[in-house]
Amino acid sequence: MKPNGRASVAPHAILPGSFDPPTNGHLDVIERAASCFGRVTVAVVVNPQKRQPMFSLQDREAMLKECTARLPNVAVEHFRGLLADYVKRMEADVIVKGLRAVSDFENEMSTALMNRSLSNVDTFFLMSDQRYSFVSSSIVKEVFFLGGDVAALVPEPVLRIMSAKRAGRST
Ligand code: PNS
Repeated sequence: MKPNGRASVAPHAILPGSFDPPTNGHLDVIERAASCFGRVTVAVVVNPQKRQPMFSLQDREAMLKECTARLPNVAVEHFRGLLADYVKRMEADVIVKGLRAVSDFENEMSTALMNRSLSNVDTFFLMSDQRYSFVSSSIVKEVFFLGGDVAALVPEPVLRIMSAKRAGRST
């Protein structure tokens, strides 16, 4: 039995994020979560508090759907407001977050404790592959839009949509 009173044979995990854009690091964590949990919902936050997203919600969801199409237990959705409220609405069992390095942990720990106090749902952390320890959406955007090569850092559908955006075409 879980602390939230639910018992799951195949736990449902929520994997939230801004995904602006999704990177190979994100996809690596999604794949790891899909092999650990019965069901994974990748949840795109509609209005990240930190900043105005570069990619629309539609683009971010479309990129994630294409990247995860081969994973049968992964769905992509979006949410507004508090993650804790969304997790309760979804009746999910756990939250999953990726960690690239120890430096990610400080902020993630306080967020996990706050989410647990709000929803009584625990956060599970998965380490992304060390190849992606330096990869973040912010660094990928900066390098790409200044003309750098990010082909090894993002999935192909993401590179395609980023290239279309850089070329000024609509996606
Ligand atoms: O990919 P990111 O930007 O690191 O994801 C951050 C995200 C979306 C997981 C976080 O900002 C979030 O949960 N936002 C929803 C609002 C919320 O619940 N805030 C309180 C967190 S304790």
